[in-house]
Amino acid sequence: MKKRLMYIFGTRPEAVKICPLIRETAGRSCFENVVCVTGQHRDMLDQVLDIFDVKPDYDLDVMRADQTLFDITREVIQPLQEILTKEQPDIVIVHGDTTTSYCAALSAFYLGIPIAHIEAGLRSHNIHSPYPEEFNRRAIALISDYDFAPTFDAGQNLIREGKDPEKVFVTGNTVVDALGFTVSDDFSHPLLEWAGDDFILITAHRRENQGEIMRGMFEGIKRALLEHPEHRAIFPVHRNPKVGELAREVFEGIDTIRIENAVDVKTFHNLEARCYLCLTDSGGVQEECPSFGRPVLVMRDVTERNEGIMAGCSYLTGTDKMLVYKKLKELLENKKVYDSMVCTQNPYGDGKACKRIADVLEERLFLD
Ligand code: UD1
Ligand code: UDP
Repeated sequence: MKKRLMYIFGTRPEAVKICPLIRETAGRSCFENVVCVTGQHRDMLDQVLDIFDVKPDYDLDVMRADQTLFDITREVIQPLQEILTKEQPDIVIVHGDTTTSYCAALSAFYLGIPIAHIEAGLRSHNIHSPYPEEFNRRAIALISDYDFAPTFDAGQNLIREGKDPEKVFVTGNTVVDALGFTVSDDFSHPLLEWAGDDFILITAHRRENQGEIMRGMFEGIKRALLEHPEHRAIFPVHRNPKVGELAREVFEGIDTIRIENAVDVKTFHNLEARCYLCLTDSGGVQEECPSFGRPVLVMRDVTERNEGIMAGCSYLTGTDKMLVYKKLKELLENKKVYDSMVCTQNPYGDGKACKRIADVLEERLFLD
């Protein structure tokens, strides 16, 4: 009898990190995949599904402009009762810390269906940052049955919280596996032709940074860019209008930066592989850039991804305008400091996480 794996996810980063696993388990005859997307993101999710050629069996299509946490929670939870009851999966697989992930895990828990949590155990130890993700990830850990931690430290966080060490598996982050599908030497794109060598790649989206904090981050970047016109910058903006409108306002009239709508994941990964450095508040981007030896300046006050900081390939700048400006300026002007952040090994994974996760599921689902 095949085991039925039900994947539930809804945002871009979940899709990037879960699609390689869907492909891995689809290739194993002992599993049957059922894929349910919530559509918490729409175009940003669909871009990823297209690249990985994953076709959902269910699409809840919940995204609305200016959606609140209440909207997402209500719209995701409601239909899942019926779908899970109908599908009767042997396990529900969720990823990370989004509201989709939390609602999917909660729905499975209400129906007594086992839960596997991918990218489990990340902790900032500050319930308000990232918000609401730190709550979501801790809440999922309370009810998950199998925890797939990307790093040793993440695994230790779970064990310290009382999780059964026999059901915590350190696998590496599946995002590194994703890069194997997307990055190629012969990739070309008009943005790359425009940017030339040594361009700066920028992303930002965090809910807790939106508004004046984000304005400060952008102002800091702007000052450094104006002082260094020899570097061009590419900023593919998140589809949330709150981010794009602010970015276009702050960087207006500066011709060394291109503000683009979010690019597809293949393009983005290939930009990461070729940039000089990256400025971001994203989780996934922090984990991807070290694969290419690209330094990352993390525009946040706390991070749950300390491995990059410890390895020296990431630096937590904070969100203050002057802090962002000074660190970016230092990296653009001081080659020694820049070189010290070029790492040769990615502390987040080795590209084999999906195989490890599928092996565990294969062994445990047929045993337990
Ligand atoms: C969500 C996750 C966050 C994750 C981030 C990745 C929660 C609470 N937040 O935050 O953990 O890091 O995704 O990007 O789960 N929009 C579009 N098209 C899209 C996607 C978004 O137009 O494809 C716009 C919509 O107006 C939407 C808004 O962006 O209402 C915000 O989307 P939402 O998923 O609520 O928040 P994110 O900041 O994307
Ligand atoms: N990404 C993308 N296109 C872009 C910007 C980012 O495909 O224009 C990818 C990036 O490679 C990473 C993921 O989106 O895999 C990160 O998503 P995001 O920063 O929105 O969320 P987080 O990782 O912070 O939860």
